[in-house]
Amino acid sequence: PTTRNYNWTISEIEAAPDGVLRTLIVIDGQFPGPLVECNEGDTIVIDVYNGATNSTSLHWHGQYQNGTNWMDGTTGVTNCPIPPGKSFRYEFTVREQWGTYWYHAHFSTSRIDGLFGPFIIHSPKESIHSDTDRVVMVHDYYHDLSAALLPQYLAPDNENDEPVPDGALINGMGICSTCEPSLGKLATFGLDRDKTHRLRFINVGAFAEFDVEIDQHELSLVEVDGVEVEPYRLHRFRINVAQRYSVILHANQPTDSYWLRARMIAHCFAEIPEDLKPEVLGIVRYTSNEEKPTTKGWGEAMELECKDLNTSEIIPAVSISAPEPDALIYIRSNFEIGAYRLSRGFFNKTSWRPAEVPTLVQAIDGLARANRSFSSEGILPAYDINRQMVYRIDGIKTIDILIDNFDDGNHPFHLHGYKFWVLGQGHGYFDRSTYAALNTTNPLRRDTVTIEAYGWVLIRFVTDNPGMWAFHCHIAWHAEAGMLMQFLTQPATVASWEVPEDVKGFCAHPEDQRGGGI
Ligand code: C2O
Ligand code: CU
Repeated sequence: PTTRNYNWTISEIEAAPDGVLRTLIVIDGQFPGPLVECNEGDTIVIDVYNGATNSTSLHWHGQYQNGTNWMDGTTGVTNCPIPPGKSFRYEFTVREQWGTYWYHAHFSTSRIDGLFGPFIIHSPKESIHSDTDRVVMVHDYYHDLSAALLPQYLAPDNENDEPVPDGALINGMGICSTCEPSLGKLATFGLDRDKTHRLRFINVGAFAEFDVEIDQHELSLVEVDGVEVEPYRLHRFRINVAQRYSVILHANQPTDSYWLRARMIAHCFAEIPEDLKPEVLGIVRYTSNEEKPTTKGWGEAMELECKDLNTSEIIPAVSISAPEPDALIYIRSNFEIGAYRLSRGFFNKTSWRPAEVPTLVQAIDGLARANRSFSSEGILPAYDINRQMVYRIDGIKTIDILIDNFDDGNHPFHLHGYKFWVLGQGHGYFDRSTYAALNTTNPLRRDTVTIEAYGWVLIRFVTDNPGMWAFHCHIAWHAEAGMLMQFLTQPATVASWEVPEDVKGFCAHPEDQRGGGI
């Protein structure tokens, strides 16, 4: 293991990734942000200087942060954001995980303005092998700064109208559909003939789910959110915001170049503008020949072969020994919209707004002060800091979470600090009498799961990682509208922590925090 040092500057630039000039907030002038690549066991030290107008904070999506909860970078939960003109050092060790991850800002919706990038962890324990290894980030894209889109979205009576993307990009590249002349470029992947290539897909977008395929190539799915799975052949897969899928492509087809197609699932958009092209193209070529591909998509014929990737099998297989959870937490998620209230997202009756003092810091102080703000009764006293939903779970427990979605959109739910098992999913109401029949033989583990419109998902995790952890919808607009709750796991351990002064330091000056949505 070694220590890897990065020195990053966040700034605002004017750039035209798809041909339309706009302001982006970027790391070291790059869009998307630089690749972080390490081995399991390495310590990552990233010094971040915030040279932008607004505050910011970086979160390492999917990292366990075991013992370094305050490096999770989640505004209002574990950290106060880095004010403009200030620096912060993120430092943590990557343990017991490898595969495809990413990082992004966790301050309001600013991540979608350019503050994201890939985070790849290698390990000798990994059994996936290929001749080459590439990152393919797909994402929806707006021509405006997210802060400019927020006021209208959060205004009263706006009927849950998420801003509709202006287009989509692959690795920050694409061609605007309405631009004359078109200045953008397509992402191009030179993949040598007869070799095997690992493509690590990450949906780094704000809102849209994507269908992804590569003309004429069957792909072999080998990794889901940092978890190795039994290879599965597919032609097309659907990837939701924050999810990762690695596929192996064998470059064994007759011609030289092929389209890579990533299509936004646009039917959940409030309206589909006429000039919106939901599909972004990339190019896969075996040779340096510059000719455009002439290949055709797989078409509807392959739709039947779409499998639910939540049923992927982990290798090596693990079955869950504890059949009964210690507790079942029920969460009803929905948007409540009415003439007299803001359109906000709710988990049960709570709608999150970031606390000025992160709940982690509040928890440490509260616990230190003779447990004052905490009830010590029962296994799972749900309690409330600033009217936020925070579940406290003492000790190491097996917790099932049943989420019911009372909403016509689907939501990619993400739990910080853990991976969870996906025990079951469905539409309508979950029938509790079927509890015992849930899949406990080698269910998939992942960190971001889609909950379909009017559907439910039952997930399980074991609280073996102490801390204050966010659980939220990863659609940037929805989290900002309040679809976030928290788990405080192993509070006795948390109470013994001293959070480093520089972590708390920014919280002492809330007037320095700029740029929140609300
Ligand atoms: Cu990808 Cu709360 O994070
Ligand atoms: Cu959502």
